[in-house]
Amino acid sequence: MASRIIRKIVPAGRAGSAAYSTGVRRVTLIPGHGIGPEITVAVQKIFEAAKVPIEWDEVDVTAVRGPDGKFGIPQKAIDSVNTNKIGLKGPLMTPVGKGYRSLNLALRKEFDLYANVRPCKSLDGIKTLYDDVDVVTIRENTEGEYSGIEHEIVDGVVQSIKLITEEASKRVAEFAFQFATENNRKKVTAVHKANIMRMSDGLFLRCCRDVATKYPDIKFEERYLDTVCLNMVQDPSKFDVLVMPNLYGDIMSDMCSGLVGGLGLTPSGNIGKNGALFESVHGTAPDIAGKDLANPTALLLSAIMMLRHLQLNEHADRVQNACYEVLREGKALTGDLGGTGKCSDYTNAVISKLN
Ligand SMILES: NC(=O)c1ccc[n+]([C@@H]2O[C@H](COP(=O)([O-])OP(=O)(O)OC[C@H]3O[C@@H](n4cnc5c(N)ncnc54)[C@H](O)[C@@H]3O)[C@@H](O)[C@H]2O)c1
Repeated sequence: MASRIIRKIVPAGRAGSAAYSTGVRRVTLIPGHGIGPEITVAVQKIFEAAKVPIEWDEVDVTAVRGPDGKFGIPQKAIDSVNTNKIGLKGPLMTPVGKGYRSLNLALRKEFDLYANVRPCKSLDGIKTLYDDVDVVTIRENTEGEYSGIEHEIVDGVVQSIKLITEEASKRVAEFAFQFATENNRKKVTAVHKANIMRMSDGLFLRCCRDVATKYPDIKFEERYLDTVCLNMVQDPSKFDVLVMPNLYGDIMSDMCSGLVGGLGLTPSGNIGKNGALFESVHGTAPDIAGKDLANPTALLLSAIMMLRHLQLNEHADRVQNACYEVLREGKALTGDLGGTGKCSDYTNAVISKLN
């Protein structure tokens, strides 16, 4: 049960790289900023100790100014992901309200990583208000409110355009149902506000309905975003797989992380037709960066999702069991989980459980 949620986390054949099951795989590694490098080293050490057949292709993703004067992702990083088709990524710093656009958004756009998958599952040893959370949020990752189409009409009046297309809505709905089928899930809930945003959310919802007819074995339901928030905190066991437009997915997935112990424990995968990037969902945590205080679990669980995507399931099981055991024992937990352990203590504890 514990491993079910990320056993087949990604529908097979989504990324070109998932075809292998043996041999050493080259994976793009983006350590990122703030605590990123520390938690990345933790994952590398654990994978090395577990003899996971991965060779890291490390690249820096700090914004660079292109010939057009705009800031963007360094070409080396783009080339690396295009070649390897798979990557593991730490958090990236985004300046607020000025400078350049989010590099996370740029990466998702560049590689058309259209579905963000975030499993939130209660973990033994991590006490929260809920004992039996087991939900997966699937968020449309390329458009919606995050399309980046904003302008000032006149002084003091700005407009932001929420873009919803049939193509993007259908493909993420298809992904959600396919995911549910392949992971033995029973229900997909489309989360929307089509009562207010009749055209945009209306289109998203219609696409979900259309796709649902192709999957008669998966129960389909439609729920308003606000009702889902209410019901989720009342009884998360009512939900299974949720699919939704970009902004709702961003907020809902963080809320679901909170139900299982926080962002430090929540993995995610950004999946596209030609590649996949797995990442911890928390930010750069500048308040604790460089102090060996960060919790590497979210990045480790993201890396385990990545192993399953690569069909390296035995390696994934082994590392996951070690990680779960350390959490269950509770001796090496980091500060965010109420412990006094350092990032390096936690890393060594996971390594010690590998055999
Ligand atoms: N995916 C990403 O790359 C991503 C996601 C969110 C935020 N960010 C960026 O990160 C920067 C900081 O954002 P923020 O402060 O709003 O959010 P944050 O997630 O960095 O930090 C929020 C709080 O959670 C703690 N925290 C986060 N991750 C932790 C971990 N692994 N272990 C222990 N504690 C942890 C931090 O110490 C802080 O107190 C911003 O520039 C933001 O744009 C990046």
